[in-house]
Amino acid sequence: MRIRISGTGSALPKKILTNADLEKMVDTSDAWIRERTGIRERHIAEEETTSSLAAEACRRALENAGKKAEDVDLLIVACCTAEMMLPCTSFQVQDAIGAVNATVFDLNAACSGFLFALQTAHTYIATGVYKNALVVGVEVLSRIIDWTDRTTCVLFGDGAGAVFAEATDEEGMGLLGLVQGSIGSRGPVLQCKAGHYRDVATEIFPYKDSYVHMDGGEVYKFAVRQVPDCIEKALEQSGFAPEDIDLYVLHQANIRIIEAIAKRLGVSMDRFPYNLDRVGNTSSAAIPSLLDELNHSGKLKKGMKLVLSGFGAGLGYGAIVMRW
Ligand code: ACO
Repeated sequence: MRIRISGTGSALPKKILTNADLEKMVDTSDAWIRERTGIRERHIAEEETTSSLAAEACRRALENAGKKAEDVDLLIVACCTAEMMLPCTSFQVQDAIGAVNATVFDLNAACSGFLFALQTAHTYIATGVYKNALVVGVEVLSRIIDWTDRTTCVLFGDGAGAVFAEATDEEGMGLLGLVQGSIGSRGPVLQCKAGHYRDVATEIFPYKDSYVHMDGGEVYKFAVRQVPDCIEKALEQSGFAPEDIDLYVLHQANIRIIEAIAKRLGVSMDRFPYNLDRVGNTSSAAIPSLLDELNHSGKLKKGMKLVLSGFGAGLGYGAIVMRW
């Protein structure tokens, strides 16, 4: 049994923070940010929360799939910026949308989170444990960013994206190739201490520097090497060549990373849609919210071949080849 995605949804906070706004906050420029990252603006949560954004994306995905919240068997929230330690975000979302019959849990794999969550849903459904799953990636990264650090604060945004996935026995459809991997030894390259965690040495509660710290160059090198490799492995499993794929829906970290991956795979940038110019890097929300944008603008046709690929903190990475 395979799974196919039959509904998508997304939600963005109302407030938009432009590069011009950032010029007033740190020593940066619109030209630097656009040239180095491709980002023009991002959405920042004010009254919205991690769970409210996730719940809204889920409601829209269910509506798009023509399903009710009570129909959901499994709800997985991929997230590294939960507003609550307990209960975890998936329980809050279950309550908010009324998915009373679902088994729910969170999964934190940062920017690879949605990919890992979709692969987890695939495994549950393929083995017959559940018939369907609502998988949502959500982040309010603005709460773990140091807004005085120009090397990180220009990169990220807040948002949520969700997909409704269900079993299909249609020949050749659904998820056809799956790869995921982790390099825990590279964790220090991109990290953020847990703000609620008491430091036993200093008794400081919370940690003073519970912000994202990143070695941008190392993340860049990791992404442009590891992502094409894992995409090629997933393509091998599915029997497709890079040029057979209609659209590559990649994690939206940086346009230069996407361009380098396209070049390495020998595929034109036309097949790499992006929305990072308007939303920045939304970590686990990036892939499902871009999928939703493509779905709603009519760019996804039945039978199209897609590659999804996520990568980031961990360091983690993953790729999925699927027929829409
Ligand atoms: N505005 C102006 N100048 C800046 C800014 C800024 N916002 N940030 C850094 N600079 C300066 C640096 O201080 C440095 O100055 P110096 O030469 O005087 O020391 C100069 O610009 C060049 O800095 P680099 O870090 O070498 O710039 P680089 O071209 O590598 O771009 C970037 C930095 C965009 C972070 C890049 O390394 C990158 O894309 N890395 C990938 C990481 C990424 O996208 N992470 C997102 C999260 S992880 C994930 O989702 C995969």
